Amino acid sequence: MLRFAYVNGRYVRHADATVHIEDRGLMFGDAVYEVCQVAQGFLVDMTRHLDRLDRSLSQIRIRPPMPRAALVGIMREVLRRNRVVNGLVYVQVSRGVARRDHVFPTPDVRASLIVTAKSLNPATIAAKHAAGVSAFTAPDNRWGRVDIKTVGLLPNVLARQQAKEAGGYEAIFVDAEGNVTEGAATNLWIVDKAGTLVTRPADPGILRGITRTTLLDVAATLGLPVAERRFSVAEMLEAREVFITGATTICLPIVSIDGRTIANGHPGIIAQKIRDAFFDVAEKTAI
Ligand code: PDD
Repeated sequence: MLRFAYVNGRYVRHADATVHIEDRGLMFGDAVYEVCQVAQGFLVDMTRHLDRLDRSLSQIRIRPPMPRAALVGIMREVLRRNRVVNGLVYVQVSRGVARRDHVFPTPDVRASLIVTAKSLNPATIAAKHAAGVSAFTAPDNRWGRVDIKTVGLLPNVLARQQAKEAGGYEAIFVDAEGNVTEGAATNLWIVDKAGTLVTRPADPGILRGITRTTLLDVAATLGLPVAERRFSVAEMLEAREVFITGATTICLPIVSIDGRTIANGHPGIIAQKIRDAFFDVAEKTAI
């Protein structure tokens, strides 16, 4: 099937979609992005994703390229043209195109906007949920503002590749104190010895995941005890359950870390309960 993308005012064939060689996203990683899940024809938690996009833009002082309603129209159109029912929509805004210079371009330079979409097979994701995945720890060597969702993901790319080469799915970043920060593209959760759901507070050391925020709502709905506190690698290895959250996989169990089995080596019941309740709690916007 032909794929389509939106680039700076035009819908184009995906294969023909290009940006300028001096786009600041390309030159400096001077760009922010969002990934929003699409499930059964609905955008999941769109408002929260677009609120976070606004925050990312304001944190790095890029003016939004258009009003929100227009952006939503483009997201819908890209999903429609690509016939996505289950999958994701990707939105990226860069500071625009200008002769290479570290300082910001003049105010007349408009932000660049890219929107793409792709289908994902729910059966593939369900198989991952059923079996669980393995992960490997890695030193968190990222910059100090990972709370901003920028496209500067090189440490994440390298850590995930290393995890993959070791036979794993996700890399788990660990800070200088030996505490877990987050996954290379996910937030990290444990169910501790007392049965409490634990995740790191949304300090500048992690991205405040939208799935993370909605999962806190789910936990409240289910009456599950929650603590936002830091936890060490040692505590994680002894946890009853470990799982990761992110827009495309929601709540994915981790059954082995650095070659060590977590609990009995099978996905846990809490992760399952949360997943079952997730879409009832999340915001759903029809495409
Ligand atoms: N990743 N932490 C990091 C570093 C991430 O890149 C992501 C998302 C998350 C989870 O956030 P959310 O629940 O809003 O998806 C946490 C996206 C999916 C990506 O880069 O593809």
